[in-house]
Amino acid sequence: MLDNSLTRWLKGIRGKPGRPTVLVKELGERDRRRILRHFLALDDSDRLLRFGNVISDDAIVQYVQKIDFSHDIVFGVVNRVFQLVGVGHLAFAKADKGKPTQKERVAEFGVSVSASARGQGVGSRLFQRAAIHCRNADVDTLYMQCLTSNQTMMHIAKKAGMEIKREYGEADAYLQLPPPSPASVMAEAIEEQWAVIDYTVKANARAAVKWLTPKK
Ligand SMILES: CC(C)(COP(=O)(O)OP(=O)(O)OC[C@H]1O[C@@H](n2cnc3c(N)ncnc32)[C@H](O)[C@@H]1OP(=O)(O)O)[C@@H](O)C(=O)NCCC(=O)NCCS
Repeated sequence: MLDNSLTRWLKGIRGKPGRPTVLVKELGERDRRRILRHFLALDDSDRLLRFGNVISDDAIVQYVQKIDFSHDIVFGVVNRVFQLVGVGHLAFAKADKGKPTQKERVAEFGVSVSASARGQGVGSRLFQRAAIHCRNADVDTLYMQCLTSNQTMMHIAKKAGMEIKREYGEADAYLQLPPPSPASVMAEAIEEQWAVIDYTVKANARAAVKWLTPKK
């Protein structure tokens, strides 16, 4: 019989009734251009919410160039036509004194979802995947910074049970995570395998459409 938490996780992937199944995959070097396209499509207000500033296209190019896939973890969700509609960036840092952890590292998470894909559970799934990844990587504290005016993100943070400290219009939220369990390791591995299959099928379909479309 499946452990309860694993069953819950698998049900979560299927999503709420009326919402599509959201599969979260770890991204790598081959996705760098797609990640860039996703960020460049964010408008000024989304850039402010995601990066804390209305950053320019050039700054986004630099940010994406600097992502180190061997150190940070970047998660993504692709839509039916293989566009990257959600990106979650999990960065690890040394835990300073005063942080609520005994572990060596803490994690910080930033997320964005394309305007066309919002309200379907993509942001929540990216957050949940980041949290289970931290658990399995022996990191027990996950931070997220956002503006207090960001009602959607505040809702996601509260739903996940995050402790939220509000100061000067900014919210510093953190989630204390339990240690890994066989179910948490299995849940992440199962989702990643499904997501890899889904990603590969969509990538091949997209390549086939490109190949079959006559060149002008
Ligand atoms: C924040 C963001 C990532 C959310 O992505 P999303 O895919 O739309 O999120 P989800 O669909 O998983 O969840 C949205 C939840 O917020 C709720 N929500 C939407 N608007 C809301 C509002 N104004 N107030 C409160 N809750 C709201 C939805 O009902 C949903 O809740 P539910 O799942 O319990 O029904 C997306 O809006 C985004 O990219 N914003 C710009 C960048 C940003 O703000 N990044 C976060 C900073 S790190």
